[in-house]
Amino acid sequence: MRFVRWIMLVLILLGLVLSGISVSGQGEGLTIGFSQIGSESAWRTSFTVAVQAEAEARGINLLFSDAQQEQENQIAAIRAWIAQGDVDAIILAPVVTSGWDEVLQEAQDAGIPVVIVDRNVDSDPSLYVTRVSSDFVHEGRLAAAWLVQATSGQCNIVELQGTVGSAAATDRQTGFNEVIALFSGMTIIHSETGNFVRTEGKQVMASILASEDPANICAVWAHNDDMAIGAIEAIKEAGLQPGVDILVVSVDAIPDIFNSLDAGETNATVELSPFMGGPAFDAVVATLNGEELPKWIPVAGKLYTTRAAYDADHQ
Ligand code: AHR
Repeated sequence: MRFVRWIMLVLILLGLVLSGISVSGQGEGLTIGFSQIGSESAWRTSFTVAVQAEAEARGINLLFSDAQQEQENQIAAIRAWIAQGDVDAIILAPVVTSGWDEVLQEAQDAGIPVVIVDRNVDSDPSLYVTRVSSDFVHEGRLAAAWLVQATSGQCNIVELQGTVGSAAATDRQTGFNEVIALFSGMTIIHSETGNFVRTEGKQVMASILASEDPANICAVWAHNDDMAIGAIEAIKEAGLQPGVDILVVSVDAIPDIFNSLDAGETNATVELSPFMGGPAFDAVVATLNGEELPKWIPVAGKLYTTRAAYDADHQ
């Protein structure tokens, strides 16, 4: 009788192993392709470093591909991973929202699960496992709400947009505009893209300051901190005091923006956590183990006006 019980136990354990329990909770031994957008901003670089560190800590073999802002490079990398058949899963940070249906379908047909991180795609959610990201619309709303209260609802705003067609730019714009639309004194007087890049933010702001009476500009709303810092340089070079003559609000919470907050040259930033690698790898492991996941795993972020407040939340 005891012998029969032992046989049954062995069979149960064997069944668990064969049904996929062999994939460890952390993902050790998996090979995962990570298609990253590029290195346009300090936030993007922190995000890359955080994902790589997380993979190393878990014993995941991460195949990293830098698309240098080109969607076609991302599609080519995904197709190469599919053709080589050497990845267990793919993590995709998509540069723009549209144009992913075909390649996502190809990955699905090859049985390779795809987890979307950071920005969104407009493909049918059945083509990917889940999306690990912040709520960009909410970020825009937070920035606008702060500006409304700081200016008592009276402000002419310069908007520095991120990459055109990216979820981070369109959704932040949507959230911000939704809130300022409630206040007749809040007006966007210039809106141009700086592609999330510091030097471009500076160039755009410098040309606006050359064509517009600076006294007519109340604030800069930048879709990321790097463009805000570029704009701050342009404001200073125009002989004005950023943070006072022209208010500055942006998104990311990178270290440089806290130096700028300390110096009184910027006023507020909305945090975008770069630590999305952990939940993305957890999602890969879960889906390989046959678990169902929600289509969106949100990553929270708050608005900060001081380094002390940020530090208090991140001890
Ligand atoms: O997609 C997130 C955005 O992309 C970050 O806010 C920006 O810094 C980055 O380039």
